[in-house]
Amino acid sequence: MAKQKTLHDAFYETLKDVYYAEKQSVKALKKSAKAAEHAELRQAFETHAEESAQQVERLTQVFEIIGKPARAKTCEAMQGIVSEMEEDLEDFAETPAADAVLAACAQAVEHYEIARYGTLKTWAGQLGYADAAKLLDETLQEEKKTDARLSEIAEAINAAGTAGDDTEASNGKGSKKAA
Ligand SMILES: [Fe+2]
Repeated sequence: MAKQKTLHDAFYETLKDVYYAEKQSVKALKKSAKAAEHAELRQAFETHAEESAQQVERLTQVFEIIGKPARAKTCEAMQGIVSEMEEDLEDFAETPAADAVLAACAQAVEHYEIARYGTLKTWAGQLGYADAAKLLDETLQEEKKTDARLSEIAEAINAAGTAGDDTEASNGKGSKKAA
């Protein structure tokens, strides 16, 4: 009979997923920092790339806490977001909407991470890993802060970018602040 899978298994699998996703996001952020025109946007990408490297480190600590090897499992969701970002980078390179598109892609990454870290933090608490829950919450708060910062910057960029321009591309998808 197949072994019953537990919440502990789900926790470990999701941890491997986000470990992969976080490493991908460090690369994507560095790429985005190079591509960004707007100084504050570039700065936000650079800052979060450093933070994300720290977040990867925190994940290795969580693996240690649960006594499992730190392994990455391909996260197709993050791969998809990153390949959309690369496509957008090509399609919108050198256009007035380039920065807005970059910010929007970065927010898609953040939202994925927020979903994952929120789940992992809750599960860690339920499984009795209080220290892991604390580490995951630290990261979760950084992701939320980054998302809010990107919203602010995107709004500023789009306000500047849409002056005298009524095309749809400069309306800044993903730049709306959550209510
Ligand atoms: Fe992250």
